[in-house]
Amino acid sequence: MSHRTLIQGGLVVTATDEVHADVLIENGQVAALAGHRTDTARSWTADRVIDARDRYVIPGGVDAHTHMELPFGGTAASDTFETGTRAAAWGGTTTIIDFAVQSPGRSLRAGLDAWFAKADGNCAIDYAFHLIVSDVNAHTLREMDRLVAEGVSSFKLFMAYPGVFYSDDGQILRAMQRASGNGGLIMMHAENGLAIDVLVEQALARGHTEPRYHGEVRKVLLEAEATHRAIQLARVAGAPLYVVHVSAQEALAEVAAARARDLPVFGETCPQYLFLSTDDLARPHFQGAKYVCSTPLRPAEHQAALWRGLRTNALQVVSTDHCPFCFRGQKELGRGDFSKIPNGLPGVENRMDLLHQAVLDGHLSRRRWIEIACASPARMFGLYPQKGTIAPGSDADIVLYDPHAEQIVSAGTHHMNVDYSAYEGRRITGRVDTVLSRGHLVLDRRRYTGRAGHGTFVPRATCQYL
Ligand code: URP
Ligand code: ZN
Ligand code: ZN
Repeated sequence: MSHRTLIQGGLVVTATDEVHADVLIENGQVAALAGHRTDTARSWTADRVIDARDRYVIPGGVDAHTHMELPFGGTAASDTFETGTRAAAWGGTTTIIDFAVQSPGRSLRAGLDAWFAKADGNCAIDYAFHLIVSDVNAHTLREMDRLVAEGVSSFKLFMAYPGVFYSDDGQILRAMQRASGNGGLIMMHAENGLAIDVLVEQALARGHTEPRYHGEVRKVLLEAEATHRAIQLARVAGAPLYVVHVSAQEALAEVAAARARDLPVFGETCPQYLFLSTDDLARPHFQGAKYVCSTPLRPAEHQAALWRGLRTNALQVVSTDHCPFCFRGQKELGRGDFSKIPNGLPGVENRMDLLHQAVLDGHLSRRRWIEIACASPARMFGLYPQKGTIAPGSDADIVLYDPHAEQIVSAGTHHMNVDYSAYEGRRITGRVDTVLSRGHLVLDRRRYTGRAGHGTFVPRATCQYL
């Protein structure tokens, strides 16, 4: 029997439109939109009516960069797929694309299977996977073709972290060549890891052990150089390139220059680079460890360039790179040696709100907010228009957003499984009120009604910007 839900009286905001419209949902998908009080809207009957007056009705967020349960630095990210996807839902995100990891010496398939085992039956919202390729070899390259066909159509490579995830230029070129033939998208962590490791060793030898040195050794120039090199390798291979977590103005300039030449180069940044800075990394009493991530936070001057990049489409996506580690017991592993602080920040719950605040602060238009947080990540990774918009036939992944609610971000009230908030004490206007995932209420006027196991794996097409 069909189940119909009607969302009535809200302002529907997508990447392209803002319309006062009612939304009819049938069997988990958007069936139709019609102007308030029009004959069409009046004719609709439904099993459930949701009052959206004074609310934006927006597509659920698509966070294209998360690391639930990622093993890293001798520990593991503190959010499981269960806790992390629940927190995502509280924050208005209804799809995550997480990174399955290939262990060195093992196949991509084994990595993917391991991540399916972590996620299956545990997610509150829908999920998809990229694959971190840490061992580019003939077998891996052949596997890439099969994975693209199965809906895992993007692969992250690392120019950083020698001895862990690192690939050399030859391996990167081979993977890019393969992607150019099979439609896959190479995602690049662009930092010169070999040079950084020299600087780490030298800093530690000088007794520079505090968290702020994490930022000092991971130099802007080494992000810019790696970004430039990745772009040139992609050109040689004839492959598209997506540069993850762009933090430095100079790296952004490389992406922007490539795009100005009409090259298929794309860029992502993250809320931490837009709202936090090296001042946070330099907090005393080891508190800076809470802000250790890679690429690192930059001096605040870089933020204006990143906002401009988002407005001008030099950058297309804001993802979180959610990779939480508790301060107690995890970040503390690096007391006395910043290089042992596990890299990563929590944020999956904060992204939609922080970007709404950016709308109020004049950095973005309302539609661009939805574009960079919902539509563009969906398009980039082959999920559009199933995800990322509100249109007939789309999954009914819908958020009712209260643009006037006031909140203060805090670890005391957030739902992520981590003992601090990177945005502790920050005042934000706007808050998620109600969330539907494929028509199911996950959050009902800020009462959690979701369940682990509702979320299902979503196979993806290839990048839709090509
Ligand atoms: O610090 C970060 N970003 N940790 C997660 C791994 C990565 O490089 O994305
Ligand atoms: Zn990375
Ligand atoms: Zn990451």
